[in-house]
Amino acid sequence: MASETDVRAKLQRAGQDHLLRFWADLAPEPQAALLAELASLEPDALREHCQRASAACALAPGPLLDLEARLQPLPPERVGSAVRCDRETLLRWEEEGFRQIALNKVAVLLLAGGQGTRLGVTYPKGMYQVGLPSQKTLYQLQAERIRRVQQLAGQRLGTHCTVPWYIMTSEFTLGPTIKFFKERDFFHLDPTNVVLFEQRMLPAVTFEGKAILERKDKVAMAPDGNGGLYCALVDHQILEDMKRRGVEFVHVYCVDNILVRLADPVFIGFCVLQGADCGAKVVEKAYPEEPVGVVCQVDGVPQVVEYNEISPEIAGLRGADGGLLYNTGNICNHFFTRGFLDMVTREFEPLLKLHVAVKKVPYVDEEGNLVKPLRPNGIKMEKFVFDVFQFAKNFVALEVCREEEFSPLKNADTASSDNPSTSRRALLAQHYRWALQAGAHFLDVHGVQLPEQSG
Ligand code: UD1
Repeated sequence: MASETDVRAKLQRAGQDHLLRFWADLAPEPQAALLAELASLEPDALREHCQRASAACALAPGPLLDLEARLQPLPPERVGSAVRCDRETLLRWEEEGFRQIALNKVAVLLLAGGQGTRLGVTYPKGMYQVGLPSQKTLYQLQAERIRRVQQLAGQRLGTHCTVPWYIMTSEFTLGPTIKFFKERDFFHLDPTNVVLFEQRMLPAVTFEGKAILERKDKVAMAPDGNGGLYCALVDHQILEDMKRRGVEFVHVYCVDNILVRLADPVFIGFCVLQGADCGAKVVEKAYPEEPVGVVCQVDGVPQVVEYNEISPEIAGLRGADGGLLYNTGNICNHFFTRGFLDMVTREFEPLLKLHVAVKKVPYVDEEGNLVKPLRPNGIKMEKFVFDVFQFAKNFVALEVCREEEFSPLKNADTASSDNPSTSRRALLAQHYRWALQAGAHFLDVHGVQLPEQSG
């Protein structure tokens, strides 16, 4: 193990030796823990990270400057619609998707390293249950959908197939997620087909470019954003694992959308038949300020402009038909070929933009007292999963029906939208529609048929 002297020298090189200022106060065990944490930070990378964070923050995060001149909606030839296409086309996409699944060429990859701060839970969001009668959690719903899509593809094509489930976690979510899956017998999935791996963490930094101590013996660390995926794929040899299994297409999605269709055959089939290397599902934005990214073009290349990076004026622009000009809302459902991911990890990852999030980061002050700041005091730097779209050779987007596919759980019930109640209702309404379509009638307590509701 590295000695205190070595670590102190490294930190001095990085201009961060204040991280050891409580060293003398610590007992041997916390000393060892702090040393281990600090030893893992490479001095040049640490110095660069702190300088970059402080410089990027000085450039005032918020709406991107001169965006209006650089922004365009996606050209129509890049966008398909599962809402407006004819039935034949939809069936063709679906058939192709099922075929690829049946050939074991499709995997799903869950981004589950986030901290769920807005929802206000201390455990991974996937373990949350929104109060369904079945009491199922988000993880359970997702696991059951994987089993079902395997079964449907297998039945159609007479094979026995597997959709491996890759789950990216972080220091916060790995332990509890593994425990949760083990206690529930991996929801009857074969554990060898559920691959959990961990993304990296980065220190939170003050506006002056100093890494923050959250305790005398602990640096304040945060996951490096869902775009940390690309480093994590390399760190844990995930692409090699995919290759070994024959996986060619990966459906990447975020944890909190209760309606997510895992390995959605329509989406997979659409992207494969378009010859896409990279794709995104979108829904029509509900209102200009809706907190979803916009899938569009910046300087002629496909990108997502995040909701806090677009000004209200641009978000509210209307096209000739009266609808929002930038109406393709990102629902964090992405398609990548393994080849594209391989290229990103080898060539493009270092070029990914670092996004600045200014947050309230608890810290210890000069006297060693724990402070919970009332105002933002720290910078967290994050990469975004969709920032690789610009490197695609053939990027496509597929519009899907919001009612059927998007109801994210972001907030606690105290907020008016994207909360446990709206998620629960969205799923129950979908099941209600499915039951009606299958010919079911709903009766009241007296056995009288209820009028059909729109959901
Ligand atoms: C995300 C999208 C936004 C989209 C919205 C739809 C990004 C950067 N933004 O926004 O464009 O409109 O979903 O609901 O994708 N995560 C990690 N590691 C991290 C941080 C996050 O794995 O370090 C995971 C989360 O666990 C979650 C997903 O990434 O599954 C999305 O993260 P979140 O912070 O909730 O993104 P939003 O701001 O909601």
